[in-house]
Amino acid sequence: MAQTFNAPLPIPTSVTGTVFNLNVDEATKQFKPGNITNTYGVNGNYLGPTLFVNAGDFITLNVTNNLTESTTMHWHGMHVPAEDDGGPHSLIGVGDTWSPDFMVKNKASMYWYHPHKMGLTNYQVSMGIAGIIIVNDAEESALNLPRTYGVDDIPLVIQTKSFDVNNQIQISSQMDDTSMVNGEITPYANAPAQMVRFRALNGSSSRTLNIGTDDNRTLYQISSDGGLLENPVPVTRILLSNGERAEFLVDLTSETVGSTFKFTSYMSEMPSNIEGGSGSAGHPNTLFGTNWDFMEVRVVAQTASPVTALPGTMTTLTTHLEGDASVTRPMELTNNGKINGVSMDMNVINEVIELGDTEIWTINNITSIAHPFHIHDVQFFILDRDDGGGAVPPSATEAGLKDTVLVEAGETVRVIAKFEDYADPVIPYMYHCHNLIHEDNGMMGQFTVVDSTMGLPKLLEESVRVYPNPTFDYVHINNFNENPIKRVSLYDISGKQIKTYSNNFNRLDVRHLDSGLYFLKIETKKGELTKKLLKS
Ligand code: C2O
Ligand code: CU
Ligand code: CU
Repeated sequence: MAQTFNAPLPIPTSVTGTVFNLNVDEATKQFKPGNITNTYGVNGNYLGPTLFVNAGDFITLNVTNNLTESTTMHWHGMHVPAEDDGGPHSLIGVGDTWSPDFMVKNKASMYWYHPHKMGLTNYQVSMGIAGIIIVNDAEESALNLPRTYGVDDIPLVIQTKSFDVNNQIQISSQMDDTSMVNGEITPYANAPAQMVRFRALNGSSSRTLNIGTDDNRTLYQISSDGGLLENPVPVTRILLSNGERAEFLVDLTSETVGSTFKFTSYMSEMPSNIEGGSGSAGHPNTLFGTNWDFMEVRVVAQTASPVTALPGTMTTLTTHLEGDASVTRPMELTNNGKINGVSMDMNVINEVIELGDTEIWTINNITSIAHPFHIHDVQFFILDRDDGGGAVPPSATEAGLKDTVLVEAGETVRVIAKFEDYADPVIPYMYHCHNLIHEDNGMMGQFTVVDSTMGLPKLLEESVRVYPNPTFDYVHINNFNENPIKRVSLYDISGKQIKTYSNNFNRLDVRHLDSGLYFLKIETKKGELTKKLLKS
């Protein structure tokens, strides 16, 4: 397709520190000539800031929902407690602020945040809520890699989208005919004549990308979803499904200033079971089956102290041993958007995992199309892929830490992960197809990580949540289904009973209370417990 690359690539604002304020709001953006487009954005009119965090830091994220509908915010790829993970259960009401906090335990790599509202993830992401998280750590910082953000370290949030005749974002499965990077349609990026790092995220709803350049130059992939690869891996294509990330270096050291090349998605070379792949040229959707350029790179003058060489060995990957796995869990991807024959039900915990266990998940795709499978909480290693012709170990670019893996039609992919650090008998993590259309249609399941060495009092304590706390107006008591609440009584600091609630525990009105400390006596099926409540 002939395209023009007239607009500079926008670089999302970078924010550093340990407290991040994310305001989700409605906005508008001029994507195309003609009508302005209604969007959602985070601290801006489309997408959100890039959050730079350091491994080992304890961070707080204050997410304020200024939309007219509820939302959630999920830290994709980050290893965090279930209650901070921002899955479908952690709704942020209209006007509310949700403030998860956790220690950054991931390795240096690129992660991302996006909403995860049941049935509405595709809509809210497509409208523009998504942003990058870059984790730094000592190992990566010690390497001579480009890391001047926006200069020789360029983030690429690649998305495809469709607009209706009035230039409004359309949520439809097949008609995304417009590509954009960082919210700009076919932009150009300046890149200095040296080693340049690109950090690519496929933030599209359902389209897998097959990234290369129009001149088939070598891309040196240095990182997968959750960390560095052992060595830079020279490739000419990077297959990137929804939610996956890849960092790669491009060697521009001997380029002349003013020369250009383009990034292309080579759809014609993609297997036909991947939506829009080979054999689908001629489809009414112009992005199907044909190769399309999504960004131009213009070479500019070298910067001061450029990186001019590839790094040597970057890390040592220590994969989990198959022999250490105590559980093998089948994950069969079946037709009609199901996993193991069932659709997502917020009230059903599909899998229960013991804290500290190493597990092998056997993801077996018996449908006729490819699905990007994503697991929350952990980073995993791919053990092998089997397309029917026998199990083969992952390629060098897939040998690193992953949180999302494309499982092709008829293929079985075995992954291995260790479920460490965080147990929660109530709040589940998700696993799902990251094709957002499939996810919203129910191709998702829930797992809890439990610590069975926990005694009944602790279990009881953990099985009931009171939030927000402190609160000004309402308090929500969350317990899920296994341990129903029978009655809640409110006591003041002197022990005087003020009120008894026998229903609607998920939204108790405390607006009438004076500010101060109270106690909630919560009677549940498995026993009774007391929680402090601070009224502000
Ligand atoms: Cu990127 Cu369950 O999410
Ligand atoms: Cu995720
Ligand atoms: Cu799918």
